[in-house]
Amino acid sequence: MRTEQPKMIYLKDYQAPDYLIDETHLTFELFEDHSLVHAQLVMRRNPACAGGELPPLILDGQQLELLSLSLDGEELSETDYQLDDSHLRLQPKAERFVIDSSVRIHPESNTALEGLYKSGGMFCTQCEAEGFRKITYYLDRPDVMSKFTTTVSAEQHRYPVLLSNGNPVASGPEEGGRHWATWEDPFKKPAYLFALVAGDLWCVEDSFTTMSRREVALRIYVEPENIDKCQHAMDSLKKSMKWDEEVYGREYDLDIFMIVAVNDFNMGAMENKGLNIFNSSCVLARAETATDAAHQRVEAVVAHEYFHNWSGNRVTCRDWFQLSLKEGFTVFRDAEFSADMNSRTVKRIEDVAYLRTHQFAEDAGPMAHPVRPDAYMEISNFYTLTVYEKGSEVLRMIHCLLGAEAFRQGSDLYFARHDGQAVTCDDFIQAMEDASGQDLSQFKRWYTQAGTPRLAVSEVYDAQAKTYSLTFRQSCPATPGQSEKQPFVIPVALGLLDAAGNDLPLRLAGESAAVGTSRVLSVTEAEQRFVFEGIEAKPLPSLLRGFSAPVKLSFPYSRDQLMFLMQHDSDGFNRWEAGQQLAVQVLQELIGQQQRGEALVMDPRLTGALRSVLEDEQLDQAMVAEMLSLPGEGYLTEISEVADVEAIHAAREFARRQLAEALFEPLWQRYQANREASRNSAYVAEAAHFARRSLQNIALSYLMLDGKAEVLAACLEQFEVCDNMTERLAALAVLVNSPYEEEKAKALASFAEFFKDNPLVMDQWFSVQAACSLPGALQRVQQLMQHPTFTLKNPNKVRALIGAFAGQNPVGFHQADGSGYRFLADQVITLNALNPQIAARLLAPLTRWRKYDSARQGLMRAELERILASGELSSDVFEVVSKSLA
Ligand code: TRP
Ligand code: ZN
Repeated sequence: MRTEQPKMIYLKDYQAPDYLIDETHLTFELFEDHSLVHAQLVMRRNPACAGGELPPLILDGQQLELLSLSLDGEELSETDYQLDDSHLRLQPKAERFVIDSSVRIHPESNTALEGLYKSGGMFCTQCEAEGFRKITYYLDRPDVMSKFTTTVSAEQHRYPVLLSNGNPVASGPEEGGRHWATWEDPFKKPAYLFALVAGDLWCVEDSFTTMSRREVALRIYVEPENIDKCQHAMDSLKKSMKWDEEVYGREYDLDIFMIVAVNDFNMGAMENKGLNIFNSSCVLARAETATDAAHQRVEAVVAHEYFHNWSGNRVTCRDWFQLSLKEGFTVFRDAEFSADMNSRTVKRIEDVAYLRTHQFAEDAGPMAHPVRPDAYMEISNFYTLTVYEKGSEVLRMIHCLLGAEAFRQGSDLYFARHDGQAVTCDDFIQAMEDASGQDLSQFKRWYTQAGTPRLAVSEVYDAQAKTYSLTFRQSCPATPGQSEKQPFVIPVALGLLDAAGNDLPLRLAGESAAVGTSRVLSVTEAEQRFVFEGIEAKPLPSLLRGFSAPVKLSFPYSRDQLMFLMQHDSDGFNRWEAGQQLAVQVLQELIGQQQRGEALVMDPRLTGALRSVLEDEQLDQAMVAEMLSLPGEGYLTEISEVADVEAIHAAREFARRQLAEALFEPLWQRYQANREASRNSAYVAEAAHFARRSLQNIALSYLMLDGKAEVLAACLEQFEVCDNMTERLAALAVLVNSPYEEEKAKALASFAEFFKDNPLVMDQWFSVQAACSLPGALQRVQQLMQHPTFTLKNPNKVRALIGAFAGQNPVGFHQADGSGYRFLADQVITLNALNPQIAARLLAPLTRWRKYDSARQGLMRAELERILASGELSSDVFEVVSKSLA
């Protein structure tokens, strides 16, 4: 806990380190009631800052009990150094020296899950961003890169497996039933990539032959009961290794690559060199216990962490302001990998829907910050949707502007130029500029300006001149600390459709010939006009194809035009987008009717459009499913000026019921055909099967709204008779949201009885109930917190129950009496003392108070004030609460 107000850290204050650590030799002695860490640091003055007197050496260290300290073999006494609660300061006497320290730490009582801690019966570490300082005194900053050797000693029986980064070099028994192992990592790395694991683990083994014919041993370590759930992660790992060779020319560099699954983990996974540590939710997957979405998440996260070996580890960040250098790039890489492994269009739709619902909200709220932040109090709070997801969009725009070939050359140059270095986002851009010859100086505003730009587009058709002009006007709202914004470079991929729905050849004024039928315009001015020539009749524009820039685009489409685009656009993403915009228009009309107390009347064109989609046998089934999914309540909230939670919910539910009734026949037919196919084939984790099941399940969710006995029977049958969690959980979810109380209770009970020993499945069981918008949600959540498998100490449980309630159940959370807010604040206050990172993340829904009516604003602010006054806050929670109230 902090003792004084945490202070702001600024990018502009960056200074290179005074000292470097060439070698780091660590010895861990692990015990049940404490652990000892001995560190030998071989240090020298940083030649880049040489000259003048030797500056003091200030090592980071928190919650460490210093047992001994020596400089060049001489034991120091307490007068030779200064200690406070986060630093150890001493005066070196020479340019080169060796520090030896011993500290005592308490992993057994570490609930923050940062540094060395215990998850179940195993020891593990999480050092990013600043966790290493809770292990030993060190220069805990990413621009200090060192060669590590690590020896671990522990009781043989409880901890037969002892792992760290790099290669195993020696091991042996010790007296007293203990044993030890030494690992050596030949690659220099910052401390945040350090890892250690000790436990009773089994492993699945495989191998991969790299493009230069080196054999790499692959191992996935899990607790024994999970040994049957590793194959999908292993397959994903091998695909990732191959893909990174083929698409980026990147080869793996050690002889062994290990993944360890742990149950207690603050995030998805961590890319420690050669020893990735994963939240078990991102490793374990098999048909019976993990949904299709979980399988895809495992594939994506395994790839993400593997890709970090180059984009993050071989080339790392100079300081934490540069976090998006590794995260934005690596998310872009994993998104492209997933697109190549599955359906590209569906992956893009999912990512854009997620970005627009969550990142756009963050960018419009009190925590808004640029992709490269310029100040922070607590770096853990900056592992955000903006740094990750918007950061990935920035890379995608560079890819779009430069083209695949120049982008690859830029990436090759970046890795070659900076291998073994800690660098900045500017260095990355410089490599892209040098390789492509393009000037990206204006483009770099995407790294420094926060907020989501708006792009308003208008058209003029001149029948006489046969010209069609599009005028783009961009603007960007003010964000905290940034009132004025300069124009961005916005790549707009577009096409023009003729009356038959065909793409027209595109020739801009001044060009002698058309350049394709889909092209990228670079919008760089606040207002800019593009004139297309040789256009025989007024076309219909298809704008921002593939969502080529993370902006809020507006164009005055009529509903009929949107229906036309849904049918004819050659860009799959924009076909979906047209359907979404049509649905948004129809839903906003219903929301207005609901607010005025009028009878709800839905535009039948939406039904007609979705009927055509359902009847289109040529369309990818996953696309049919995506197009049938109405924009979520979260997205409808995000695009509202003032969000009326109840009206949004009522309007959307009304629309769903109308669609269910009007489209019963085609839905029922699609459901039965797909259910039949599911019944007749064993589970396969592949795109075509994901597609079939997603259409089957969304059809079921509509059909159940209609109250027909044969549908209920089909739902119960699907719940009971299936070989996979995708069908079972979807059936459970629709039952939970249905009025069939008896069937619902029975299904929930039998599910819990069957899966009570599988924590990841129980997480799903909690989430389905927490997200259920039927009355009494808060009471159900509070009751579920008493369930024997629930604990606040496990982040997955917190996210599954409390996070799902606050984030995925708007009507439940935003109850007008403020009970949802009070509940969330209570949990944040408790978690603040247990796990500050999780507490701060859980807070996000309360920070969005500006979106709601004044009564709710008052209630939400009051809870934020109550948290602020609740006692000693972690820097994590303090930063989020104080900025939200500012
Ligand atoms: N670098 C990790 C990733 O994106 C993120 C991460 C894992 C993390 N665990 C963390 C960040 C704990 C902060 C705190 O792949
Ligand atoms: Zn990452």
